[in-house]
Amino acid sequence: MSKNTIKHLAIIMDGNGRWATKQGLKRTQGHEAGAEMIRDITTYCAANPNIQTATFYAFSTENWKRPKLEVEFLMKLLDRYLQKELETYLSNNIRFLVIGEIDIFSASLRERIKLTEELTKNNTNLTQILALNYGGRAEIVGAVNKLIREGKQMISEADISTTLQTPYSDIDLLIRTSGEERISNFLLWQLSYSELYFTPTLWPDFTSKELAEIITNFEQRTRRFGGVK
Ligand code: FPP
Repeated sequence: MSKNTIKHLAIIMDGNGRWATKQGLKRTQGHEAGAEMIRDITTYCAANPNIQTATFYAFSTENWKRPKLEVEFLMKLLDRYLQKELETYLSNNIRFLVIGEIDIFSASLRERIKLTEELTKNNTNLTQILALNYGGRAEIVGAVNKLIREGKQMISEADISTTLQTPYSDIDLLIRTSGEERISNFLLWQLSYSELYFTPTLWPDFTSKELAEIITNFEQRTRRFGGVK
């Protein structure tokens, strides 16, 4: 039996707050530790010849409900992260992209995002996508409205797939950390035939070793895509 190949990995990074509380730290320190982990996992993905895209859920449309100070901290952390990570993107030939509605972010953060996208746009080893102020339903509605504006009368699956913000690519494997077993409005369209993996590990404790084990598990699964194998 041939092994599955992972081309597009998606991760719901959950558990920063619980990780911090468990060790008597502030929730914001959990987010800092979580941001470090994004770098580790991204460089691991860049070194894996099969993985072409890694998409991380960094801020959902629902995350605005968090205390104002925590939201502000996450925005500043993102800005710092991108500033620091440019070096990682360039030295590992990683392209950086954002999906989600970033118009609501400050002008300086939008500038930082655009600049990072621009400076990495020709990199080919891996595309790292950060989902920011992202919601899966909103992404689908946005694509449908765009097609209507373009004058489409009948909409096909292929039309939606190619009009979504996320560059066209189904997800092979979705991992969610922290023991929660939910999709939480992430990449709803692209997850149709994905393999799902839920681990109790809190995101800041996640390691590339565990990722390697999960990928091995994925490679051995039988994927039928609705057919018979
Ligand atoms: C969930 O932890 C995490 C998020 C809010 C999204 C991921 C954010 C990061 C990894 C940090 C910063 C990201 C970037 C790109 C710099 P939680 O607060 O929901 O944890 P809890 O469920 O234990 O409270």
